[in-house]
Amino acid sequence: MQYASKITGIGSHFPQRVMTNQDLARELAAKGIETNDEWIVERTGIRERRISEPGNPKETNSSLALVAATRALEMAGKTVDDIDQILFATCSPDSLVPTSACWLQTKLGAKRAWALDINAACSGFVYGLAIADTFIRTGQVKTSLVIGSEVLNPMVNWDDRGSCILFGDGSGAAIVERTEAANPRRILSTHLHTDGSLWEVLYVPAGGSARPLTAELIEQKANTMHMKGKEIFKVAVKTLTDFAVTALETNGLTIKDLDWFVPHQANLRIIEAVAKRLDFPMDKVLVNIDRHGNTSAATVPTALDEAVRAGKVKPGQTVLMDVFGAGLTYGAVLARW
Ligand code: ACO
Repeated sequence: MQYASKITGIGSHFPQRVMTNQDLARELAAKGIETNDEWIVERTGIRERRISEPGNPKETNSSLALVAATRALEMAGKTVDDIDQILFATCSPDSLVPTSACWLQTKLGAKRAWALDINAACSGFVYGLAIADTFIRTGQVKTSLVIGSEVLNPMVNWDDRGSCILFGDGSGAAIVERTEAANPRRILSTHLHTDGSLWEVLYVPAGGSARPLTAELIEQKANTMHMKGKEIFKVAVKTLTDFAVTALETNGLTIKDLDWFVPHQANLRIIEAVAKRLDFPMDKVLVNIDRHGNTSAATVPTALDEAVRAGKVKPGQTVLMDVFGAGLTYGAVLARW
């Protein structure tokens, strides 16, 4: 093929409110639920997370994404008029109709762009990159804005200490542009997979068309995430490892050729277990779960943004993004920055 795609800009943004483990423990204690900072840090690596303020128009999903997208555009040296396509990965859209992508398009004023949401839960940003890469390589799109962004707060069961400790809100954005196929600095390969039979390890029982919400279902918190943490943990370690190996082997590379590993940030212990299996040093793994928790589709672009702006990720380096999410969905993107 004549074309390839390349990430030329990246940005992120978070809500203002910081909720530390101590804050969360206090809130749960008021409801008679016990947890503590030590347990959360030891079992998850999370110390704090950002939580959107419900009803604050600056902290809706698309409003957070607006800031992240503006930062990514600035880094890429592009304007809103350059955007052909907006792919908004989220499982917590502003509204089901219209999509967050539509809200973002109008807030940006990106009049030339067509826009759609992608829901692959935590894997969404990587799915978005893969779709953008395909459109760009076939010549249909020149410049794509890929968002991974979540306001999970309303979907969290704040009475379930086994899951509410994990999640946070935030937004990441990337500008993906057409480049020559021969450019060494490009997306090298994309890998996606889904196993819908594992839906039960993380799902929201009601609120979709199959089970519309009633007052009783809301009372039962059937509109919040139900999670089997231990089951996810095991699958996550295996699939993140397998996808990393597949992505490297596809490109004739080994783990020694990798400069940065950017895994989905669901639990620091999952990340450490994968790094160990891959025999990859933790100081080359991008981690922001300590400060942000699991922001689902936003974990990879926000971690990357922080590292790029800190001057860690440099031009020409090889970066592996590797994710899993509810569905279950899995994916990886290998890129030369
Ligand atoms: N504070 C104190 N104690 C707690 C808490 C808490 N917040 N939560 C659970 N416990 C207790 C349990 O009740 C249990 O007590 P018991 O032994 O008396 O029964 C004990 O701690 C151990 O609980 P486990 O559930 O076995 O703890 P585990 O080490 O498995 O950690 C966790 C739980 C953190 C949820 C972990 O399993 C995990 O992170 N799994 C992955 C989840 C994940 O990735 N979710 C994101 C999916 S979305 C996405 O990104 C795809």
